[in-house]
Amino acid sequence: MTNTFPTPDQRPSPAAAAELSGRTALVTGGGSGIGRACALALAQAGAFVHVVDRDADSAKAVAEIAGGQAQVADLADPGAIGLLPTEIDILVNNAGLQHVAPLTEFPPDRFELIQKVMVTAPFLLMQRTLPHMYARGWGRVVNVSSVHGLRASAFKSAYVTAKHALEGLSKVAAIEGAPHGVTSNCVNPGYVRTPLVEGQIRDQAAAHGISEGDVLSNVLLARSPVKRLLEADEVAAAVLWLCGPHSGYLTGASLPLDGGWTAG
Ligand SMILES: NC(=O)c1ccc[n+]([C@@H]2O[C@H](COP(=O)([O-])OP(=O)(O)OC[C@H]3O[C@@H](n4cnc5c(N)ncnc54)[C@H](O)[C@@H]3O)[C@@H](O)[C@H]2O)c1
Repeated sequence: MTNTFPTPDQRPSPAAAAELSGRTALVTGGGSGIGRACALALAQAGAFVHVVDRDADSAKAVAEIAGGQAQVADLADPGAIGLLPTEIDILVNNAGLQHVAPLTEFPPDRFELIQKVMVTAPFLLMQRTLPHMYARGWGRVVNVSSVHGLRASAFKSAYVTAKHALEGLSKVAAIEGAPHGVTSNCVNPGYVRTPLVEGQIRDQAAAHGISEGDVLSNVLLARSPVKRLLEADEVAAAVLWLCGPHSGYLTGASLPLDGGWTAG
C-alpha cells in the first residue's frame, strides 16, 4: 500500500478522495500541528473539513489548502461553540494546550482553562454533532488524547487530568453511539514534533536547568523505547484509518502511538 498522506501544498487526489467523499468533518485546533495534519488528511480523502481554531490566520490558511471552511472560535467559550456547525459526520477533538508546573504551584485558572478546552469543549461538540450522526446512521468521533491519557508525568496535573477525562468521555460516546453506527476512539500519541512540544522542550530546559538536547533524550523520550519524536502526519494517518471503511468494529478504544511507552 502506498503512503498518500498530504504535504501542506498538496490538493486532494481523485483516487484518495473516494473514501470520505460526501462526509463533513470538523477538526478542532486545525490550524497547527496534529490538527492541521488531520484536516489535510481528511480533505485529501474527500471530506469537506471545517477547520476550527482561535487563531484566525492559521485556520484560514489550512482551510484554504484543504478546500474547506475556517471557523474561528475560542473553545473555552461555550457561546462560541454554540455557533459552530452541527451537521458533522466526523468530529476530531484535537485542540489542546499545556502548562507545566508542580501541583503545589499550579495556577487554578490555568487548570480550569485546560479542562474547558480539552474536556468541556469535546463534550459540547459531541452533544451538538451526535444527533446528526445518529440521524444518518454513521459517524466517527476521534479524540486526540495522549500517552498522558494513560500514564501520568510530574508537573502536568491539568493536562493529565483532562486527557484521562477525555478517555472516559470517549468510551461513553462509544457505548451510546454503537446502536447508531457511530464509533468513538482515542489516539494516544507520545511526543509529536509540533509547536506545542517545541515550547515544552524550552520550558523543561529552563525548569531542569539543562540543554534542550538533553530534555529531548533524557526527559521527553526517557520512557519511549523508540527514540525519536512522532510526526504529525503519522497521527493523521491513524485518525484517517479510524474514519475509514475498515474500522467500524473498533470503538471505545485507545490507540497508543507512543513508541512503546505504555508497553513498559
Ligand atoms: N505534540 C505532542 O507531542 C502531543 C502529544 C500527545 C497529544 N497531543 C495532543 O494533540 C493535540 C494537538 O496538539 P499539537 O501538538 O498539534 O498542538 P499545537 O499547539 O501545534 O496546536 C494546537 C492548536 O489548538 C489551538 N487551540 C488551543 N487552544 C484553543 C482554544 N481555546 N480554542 C481554539 N483553538 C485552540 C491552537 O491555536 C493551535 O492551533 C492536543 O490535544 C495535544 O494535547 C500532542
